[in-house]
Amino acid sequence: METIGFPRGFLWGAASAAYQIEGSPLADGAGPTNWHEFTHRRGTIKDGTTGDLACDHYHRYEEDIRHLRDLGVHAYRFSVGWGRVFPRPGNINQAGIDFYNRLVDCVCGAGIEPWLTIFHLEEPLWLSRLGGFTNRAAVDHLAELGETLFKVLGDRVRNWITINEPTVYAYLGYGTGEFPPGRKLALRGMLHASHHLLLGHARLVDAWSATGRPGRIGLAHHAVWVSPADENRARDVEAAAFMDDAANRSVLDPLLRGSYPERMLKRLHRFLPRTLEADLPGIKKPGTYIGINYYARNLYRWARFVPFLHAREHVKPDSPRSAMWEIYPQGLRATLLRLKEQYGNFPCVVTENGFPIVESSGKDPLQDDERIAYLADHVAMVGRAIAEGADCRGYFHWSLMDNFEWNWGLSMRFGLVRIDFTTQQRQWKKSAFWYRDVIRANGLR
Ligand code: GAL
Repeated sequence: METIGFPRGFLWGAASAAYQIEGSPLADGAGPTNWHEFTHRRGTIKDGTTGDLACDHYHRYEEDIRHLRDLGVHAYRFSVGWGRVFPRPGNINQAGIDFYNRLVDCVCGAGIEPWLTIFHLEEPLWLSRLGGFTNRAAVDHLAELGETLFKVLGDRVRNWITINEPTVYAYLGYGTGEFPPGRKLALRGMLHASHHLLLGHARLVDAWSATGRPGRIGLAHHAVWVSPADENRARDVEAAAFMDDAANRSVLDPLLRGSYPERMLKRLHRFLPRTLEADLPGIKKPGTYIGINYYARNLYRWARFVPFLHAREHVKPDSPRSAMWEIYPQGLRATLLRLKEQYGNFPCVVTENGFPIVESSGKDPLQDDERIAYLADHVAMVGRAIAEGADCRGYFHWSLMDNFEWNWGLSMRFGLVRIDFTTQQRQWKKSAFWYRDVIRANGLR
């Protein structure tokens, strides 16, 4: 049997995000966020649920941290609900800060390193009303949030994730409309938002450096492995290259090279911010590592009638799939090696990887062997990439527990720990025991 070991000091963690687990979105002076408003709009969430209660983590965080401790994770990635901290522009809500103070103390008290995401897809509604990140002013507001968190939590939090998935915020919010604000094919909004998020990241990197504190700071990029539907058709190859620009290089290139991909500039120039060129030198500020969230591969076909993109997603009928995406572990290895080969082997951390399951009657929800198979294949790919020279420092499982999976709602489950959303009972799935053993062994058999 093959054994895959990891370097000493390799970081094993689990991840979550505020709106997806906390519940009580308006408690103790918190202001509504884009997601609170969106989930209360009719027809936005596939199963009609909201994050009003979610995992009730707001009240049960101590229990949840005990699960993390028992799993043996070294690090816990979680995010701050912006609306709890700034219910109104410029106005700090001390009760919101107090909650994150207690949470951080609890994580540290369990001997776990906190990894804090400053912006995880959730913004206060007052900011959405100004256009969210399509408005450049959002960069200043984000900087204010970051500086506040650095000041009040920076004595204990040394690992920061500035922004989670700029492309997902931009493309799902302004392209497909599946995320708030729910706009479709708004190319201008999409490209402005993702550009401003990168500017926001750079501002946060500067603000953290200015504190003079040691630590790690980076952005979590939603990496998709992109391939042509048919490698022998030049037009599919071209379509895939363009979609790879949009999905990956639109983030990696500005951050790590200080440029946007040529093809993207050419085809989409009329939708891009006028300040783009002038902003570029200030954007090449990756921080100390890049986070990679990896789940799947997308295949593309050339599509003449799809305006500007000329690409359409293609699903191969015979390829293995989860409830959401194609399963393609090689894409994780390829992504890590791409950072090595094309981006100067900039240090990276896998900040998310996980497997969705919808429960069905007659099947024991705790026996999640499919998840274990997916995780084993992906963890193995991380090990292989490291053996091939990729500078990958850690791996976070998404997610600690079942939670509110955005537009899919509560029925799409990613947890190691099962949540009964009626009783709020927590129970380990088979994958939790499996992951605990991987961490103990610092490797995989
Ligand atoms: C990511 C996101 C997470 C989680 C995950 C699973 O895009 O950052 O919040 O929902 O996907 O779909």
